[in-house]
Amino acid sequence: MKVSIYGAGRVGVSVAFSLLHYSIVDKIVMVDIDKNRSIGEAMDLLHASGVFKYCNIYAGDPSDIIDSDFVVITAGRAQRPGETRLDLLIDNVKIIKSISEDIKKYAKDSIVINITNPVDVLTYLIWEFTEFDPRKIIGTGTTLDTLRLRTLLAQQCGVSSASIHAYIIGEHGDSEFMPLSSATIGGVLLRDYCADCDMKAEGSSTCLDFEKIVEEVRTAAYKIIEKKGATNLAIGAITAKLIDSIWKNEKRVWTPSVLIDDVYIGFPAVLGRNGVEKIVKLKLADEEQELLEHSKSVIRKAIEEIKK
Ligand code: LAC
Repeated sequence: MKVSIYGAGRVGVSVAFSLLHYSIVDKIVMVDIDKNRSIGEAMDLLHASGVFKYCNIYAGDPSDIIDSDFVVITAGRAQRPGETRLDLLIDNVKIIKSISEDIKKYAKDSIVINITNPVDVLTYLIWEFTEFDPRKIIGTGTTLDTLRLRTLLAQQCGVSSASIHAYIIGEHGDSEFMPLSSATIGGVLLRDYCADCDMKAEGSSTCLDFEKIVEEVRTAAYKIIEKKGATNLAIGAITAKLIDSIWKNEKRVWTPSVLIDDVYIGFPAVLGRNGVEKIVKLKLADEEQELLEHSKSVIRKAIEEIKK
């Protein structure tokens, strides 16, 4: 199994490092315009692979991505403190275009996972540039945001995140939201679960402030970037899990950025060996549908901007 990773910065390296833990990859190619950096990171990762399963990790050129099963895109400028993900669009679109040309030329049968922000807009452009089957092109979308949400809920509710079926959907950015109407813990609607919780303070209808938790998810990356300059470990971990899940054909539901109507957007979808096997027909409450439409319009506007 071969994975090529564009970008040997913190995110690219975190994806590779997390991936080693699954012992499913035979070859990892790190591609970066800073060749020395990719050589150094590849060497370091190669030595780490000895703890898991031998994996041939090396720094390569675009032509080395040939016959990849997965191409992961992390290359591009990262957010600076205070910047939104959409602020990166102009700078990253050129890089994405050139990478798309490489993929089209050398790895047309691969599944492409884009991480570079703004992830929804750029994943859409990768789909357009490559003209691949949209089921083979996904963005990390709101998978990390969903993970952040479940972690916070797990922490507060004392329940494993694996038993919490709640999602963050929409743009991986400021307009994302949680469709509370479908969120459950152990088959009980989250709203009811919290209304009936022992930890609830006297007089309050629920022990959780859902809007506050979603706001924490929405602002998590800003806070991390302000403090350590970038986010890398969690996005590396979730991307590696997505690859593992697709490779093993688990058919698990994640919230990657997928093509819905005329935009790529974070939405529950079943992922398997063919990529996006099914987009889940999640029923939204009227106000949630409005939030989704708003989020779509934010992404659509950015796509239109770039095409001007
Ligand atoms: C984050 C980056 C991946 O949310 O956008 O951490």
